[in-house]
Amino acid sequence: MNSVPTVLLIGVHAAVIPVIAGMWYYATPKFWEVGYMPTQPSTGFNHQIHAGKLGMDCRYCHTNVEDSWHANVPPVQTCFGCHEEGKLGPTATATTEKVQFIRDAYATDTPIPWRNIHVVPDYATFPHNAHVNAGVSCYTCHGAINNMPVVAQAESLSMGWCLDCHRNPEKNLVPKDKVTDLYWVQNEWFGKDASERVHEGMTPEALKDTLLRDPPDNCSACHF
Ligand code: HEC
Ligand code: HEC
Ligand code: HEC
Ligand code: HEC
Ligand code: HEC
Repeated sequence: MNSVPTVLLIGVHAAVIPVIAGMWYYATPKFWEVGYMPTQPSTGFNHQIHAGKLGMDCRYCHTNVEDSWHANVPPVQTCFGCHEEGKLGPTATATTEKVQFIRDAYATDTPIPWRNIHVVPDYATFPHNAHVNAGVSCYTCHGAINNMPVVAQAESLSMGWCLDCHRNPEKNLVPKDKVTDLYWVQNEWFGKDASERVHEGMTPEALKDTLLRDPPDNCSACHF
């Protein structure tokens, strides 16, 4: 009797199942979402110019980040405040052409249809303000936005990602007055070894003691 086919079959199955399981695991959308970068309306919005080069604070536009469960994208009025015709003066190189969509939207009182990038599913709760106020920097969850001409998703936002931080938060905390200073956070804080991080007497351990509560890992804190 020739047993080779059976042996081959067993061998093939043993090798193929982990491959399929692996593909199923990695091919679920959450792994694709890292890098997700939808095309934005018209010429878009450039964080590298506004938050990087011009040094605008995130909260100038994202006014809710400390106060609400949901962060916000600014209304056209915020853009128009600078990009109204003649406002920035003759030195501004931003051509009329590039900012015309702002003036059109303002004139017709229609919101600019920015496309949403970061999304947590409805069945999970994510209180945005609790994190910002606890000293978790925008940098940790959104990456170096101040260097992004176009925003792309930096982290998976999966449950494992949430829990990795909740179980070991101190390595992710920054001094509260630096939460939106992404350049400083990247270079002066996370650029140093954890044992060398200190700012006005605050170390990672001391920052952990300022938390209102331990970050939860019980199911009902995020699913209810
Ligand atoms: C001048 C206004 C302005 C400033 C300042 C600004 N942003 Fe934005 N931000 C926007 C606009 C408009 C959008 C929507 C368009 C886009 O996604 O590019 C946006 C989108 C985002 C998004 C993606 C939102 C989503 O849909 O998931 C993140 C994250 C973000 N900003 C973080 C920051 C951070 C961090 C800073 C400070 C370093 C900052 N922004 C400064 C206007 C601003
Ligand atoms: C505090 C003032 C200010 C605000 C508010 C502001 N901008 Fe700007 N914006 C500037 C300046 C300054 C430049 C650069 C001018 C130059 O040197 O060309 C610029 C450049 C631009 C450009 C052209 C550069 C490029 O290629 O992207 C666009 C488009 C633009 N802004 C869109 C927006 C949008 C959309 C908003 C609102 C979410 C906004 N701006 C809010 C000051 C501002
Ligand atoms: C602990 C991680 C974390 C931190 C810290 C954080 N974010 Fe977010 N952010 C998220 C998640 C997750 C979402 C998607 C939330 C949702 O779907 O409800 C989000 C959504 C956003 C959005 C999209 C709002 C919209 O209209 O959909 C903006 C803008 C934003 N964040 C800006 C910021 C800024 C600015 C900071 C720093 C001041 C910051 N975030 C800090 C995780 C974080
Ligand atoms: C980088 C670190 C970090 C990440 C990532 C993170 N968290 Fe948190 N989370 C914290 C910290 C720190 C606290 C404690 C805040 C406090 O109360 O002082 C917290 C608190 C919470 C709370 C309780 C808030 C309250 O008011 O009781 C919820 C709910 C929560 N996180 C959900 C999430 C979810 C959902 C995600 C993933 C989408 C997530 N977190 C990702 C650090 C993080
Ligand atoms: C810190 C917040 C947090 C806690 C605590 C938490 N979850 Fe989740 N959970 C999430 C988020 C966020 C998602 C959505 C992940 C995504 O988009 O892929 C999720 C997704 C899920 C899913 C959907 C399947 C999947 O993996 O996509 C199930 C089922 C689930 N959680 C069950 C639980 C159970 C059971 C517990 C307690 C042992 C728990 N969760 C604790 C945040 C949390």
